[in-house]
Amino acid sequence: MFLSCIWFLELLLLSLLFNVNSAQTIVKSLPGYPGELPFKLETGYVSVGKNDTVQLFYYFIESERDAVRDPLVLWLTGGIGCSAFSGLVYEIGPLNFDAESYNGSLPSFILNPYSWTKIANIILLDLPVGTGFSYATTSQGYLSSDTKSTNDAYMFLQKWLLNHPKFINNRLYIAGDSYGGKIAPMVVLEITKGNEAGLTPHMSIEGYLIGNPAVNVPKDENWRVPYAHRLALISDEYYERAKSSCDGEYMNPNPNNAECQFALQLIKQCTSNICLSHILEPICKFRAPKLDGLKWDLTYFEEDPNDILLPSSDQENPKCRFTDYVLSYVWMNNPSVREALQIRKGTKEKWKRCNGSLPISYDQDVTSVFDHHQVLSTKGYQALVYSGDHDMMIPYIGTLQWIRDLNLTLEEDWRPWFLNGQIAGYTLKYQYQEDQCYLTFATVKGGGHTAPEYKPKECFAMIDRWFSYYPL
Ligand SMILES: *[C@@H]1O[C@H](CO)[C@@H](O)[C@H](O)[C@H]1NC(C)=O
Ligand SMILES: *[C@@H]1O[C@H](CO)[C@@H](O)[C@H](O)[C@H]1NC(C)=O
Ligand SMILES: *[C@@H]1O[C@H](CO)[C@@H](O)[C@H](O)[C@H]1NC(C)=O
Ligand SMILES: *[C@@H]1O[C@H](CO)[C@@H](O)[C@H](O)[C@H]1NC(C)=O
Repeated sequence: MFLSCIWFLELLLLSLLFNVNSAQTIVKSLPGYPGELPFKLETGYVSVGKNDTVQLFYYFIESERDAVRDPLVLWLTGGIGCSAFSGLVYEIGPLNFDAESYNGSLPSFILNPYSWTKIANIILLDLPVGTGFSYATTSQGYLSSDTKSTNDAYMFLQKWLLNHPKFINNRLYIAGDSYGGKIAPMVVLEITKGNEAGLTPHMSIEGYLIGNPAVNVPKDENWRVPYAHRLALISDEYYERAKSSCDGEYMNPNPNNAECQFALQLIKQCTSNICLSHILEPICKFRAPKLDGLKWDLTYFEEDPNDILLPSSDQENPKCRFTDYVLSYVWMNNPSVREALQIRKGTKEKWKRCNGSLPISYDQDVTSVFDHHQVLSTKGYQALVYSGDHDMMIPYIGTLQWIRDLNLTLEEDWRPWFLNGQIAGYTLKYQYQEDQCYLTFATVKGGGHTAPEYKPKECFAMIDRWFSYYPL
């Protein structure tokens, strides 16, 4: 009793100290959704970094089931520099754009029946600074790196929890995909150190979940060549050529190795028009969406000059995912939306789904987080690593390789996991101790780089079981 009183006073004091530079708003309704939102959305800024020069913007959605008992998840989108809203509206959040009925006015929403907020409290954070609506008050403040964004995320969580004490005891998970999957284990390690050093608040960290995660980017990407071979995109002969001449280095080969250069040229010819984020989808980034009577603002198009393709005259082309991405630019840059989300005026001229200039100045100062995973494997946490198996950006075979390299004890070998009697993917389990699982690896069959975007139902079932400690 005595101890808990002190603890409470300490919390109160700390939250008074920290409260100064935080702002939060409950958002009851949003343009494009009729009536009140059927879930509890909060947006806000938390200031972090030296001299509080960094203002991190977040979306928080309370669990629609049981906010007290359900886990608290911090979600980090990849990029580097892709906004949390992209994760919210295209991956795991309660709203999806109604792209079918879009007629050129403000885009509208439909509810996502597979939102992860049905079973978890989720904070989606615009990280690193410069992403989404996060900004810095000095140019110095925009300098960012793996280490700095990890510290920023940790400080964010400290302040956010102190401002939301009712969530301090919820099981906490750090989650992210792609590059966010590289930062997530770094944040867990930072939390572990903080807890071990007795920093307040003590965080109820339970584990982490990462999807098609980066671990060591050049190594992750090197797996694209073996993956292309496995998925029938290159011939056995081309693969053997590259394998025997390139010494295992396919992304940054020795320029003087003519044999290897030639083999990689053959491979490039076969794969350069494959959509990396899902090998079965059309590549259509720069194809103007066909919408009569609507002038498309070219500045809405994502910046990637390498991917310019001529508009196709084929009207029967399959639906292009990129059309949906454009809707977020239209919606987010509307003044009524900024008002509803309580975006500070003058902090962001234009919102971008992914900030293309951010990776240029961002310092990837931690090459590999393999060691982070190794340390975390000794701490009694739970980890879920999932891979959309049709992703060629960070192919599942590379993910499997670093997991194997951890030398963990296999608890359960490769087997299918099911949803509604159908195989939804394959799973492997590794032990921490007898009777305690540390790491579950799962493929999501048919999933792309951001698996929940392609297989929402399967991914929802997967995390629902995992959060409940059921086998997949
Ligand atoms: C913080 O403020 C101090 C004093 O004004 C200044 O010397 C220092 O450079 C600032 N640090 C950052 C990271 O802005
Ligand atoms: C587009 O649809 C909205 C309803 O979603 C409607 O209010 C609006 O009038 C329509 N605009 C046009 C140009 O058809
Ligand atoms: C992108 O990030 C950079 C910092 O790396 C920042 O200066 C710029 O304002 C950001 N752009 C947008 C549109 O948010
Ligand atoms: C895993 O085992 C191999 C073979 O014994 C060893 O070379 C490697 O260093 C081990 N890796 C780790 C991370 O312990």
